[in-house]
Amino acid sequence: MHSSLKSYLSAHRKTVDSAIGKFLPAARVRPATVHEAMRYSMFAGGKRLRPILTLAAAEACGGEIEPALPSAAAVECIHTYSLIHDDLPCMDDDDVRRGMPTSHVKFGEGVAVLAGDALLTIAFKILAKTVPIAKSRYTVADFVADLADTAGSRKLIGGQILDLEGEGENVKLTPAQLRYIHESKTAALLSCSVRLGGMAANATPKKLEALSEFGHSVGLAFQVIDDILDVTQTSEKLGKSAGKDEASDKSTYPAMFGLEKSRKEAARLTTKALKALKPFGKKGERLEQIGHYLLDRDY
Ligand code: IPE
Ligand code: IPE
Ligand code: MG
Ligand code: MG
Ligand code: MG
Repeated sequence: MHSSLKSYLSAHRKTVDSAIGKFLPAARVRPATVHEAMRYSMFAGGKRLRPILTLAAAEACGGEIEPALPSAAAVECIHTYSLIHDDLPCMDDDDVRRGMPTSHVKFGEGVAVLAGDALLTIAFKILAKTVPIAKSRYTVADFVADLADTAGSRKLIGGQILDLEGEGENVKLTPAQLRYIHESKTAALLSCSVRLGGMAANATPKKLEALSEFGHSVGLAFQVIDDILDVTQTSEKLGKSAGKDEASDKSTYPAMFGLEKSRKEAARLTTKALKALKPFGKKGERLEQIGHYLLDRDY
């Protein structure tokens, strides 16, 4: 990892955590069960990659962090909700997440479903607090519409549906179908994360398009790496159950192409992502380092 990136990530993680902590209701607010469950999953750990990308994108566009904080918190709420639901017995059926018992194991399925629903809902309440900078070309409605599209039935939810349908020993997906699943369930939210950061900094349409492309390619690489780590890492290291994809006959890159080819594909996608950063010149260096880090990560 680039020497200054470590402190950059940890400083931004703290900023994000403190913003999320303020945006979410306190754990004791009635009904405490749901607020406790929302905070439990949110603060169980998590790399905070999406909100950090939001802040880094705002900086790459010459903006401040402050106007991008509601966007950063909102994308992490969507992500955490998607993990709670992804782990449910009716979906991937996982017991461990972020190194802790999953929400349904800790609180029961009903509460886990509702804590996920509540995080999904509050994401939009938080995003609606966005104050666009003076004379911005973007309105709050632009932010909300982008996140709604991304989290909706054509993108994140659609990808999760196809992921479920692509499971089982009798299912054989084409590479194009698998890529479509990755685009929808994972890359869309990473791409949206950087776009919202760009919009918070009043990015030019050209830069917004560049961010979108960067996020898309880095997001595809991210899911390929996630699939690789599921095969190569231990559950302890990942903080979630390793080896689950093969056990549930999930359609993944390693299952379809093997580890070697999957690694090459992740590297190719990362190179493509970094090329998209050209319009940012030196200001794009941080995003470039994060792109490398996402490829080289081991959890
Ligand atoms: C895991 O995402 C789910 C995928 C989309 C692959 P992360 O690896 O970012 O999970 P956390 O937020 O760090 O727990
Ligand atoms: C999760 O993909 C994608 C979303 C939650 C939208 P995975 O099912 O591969 O994520 P992990 O491996 O459980 O974190
Ligand atoms: Mg899944
Ligand atoms: Mg899963
Ligand atoms: Mg996975």
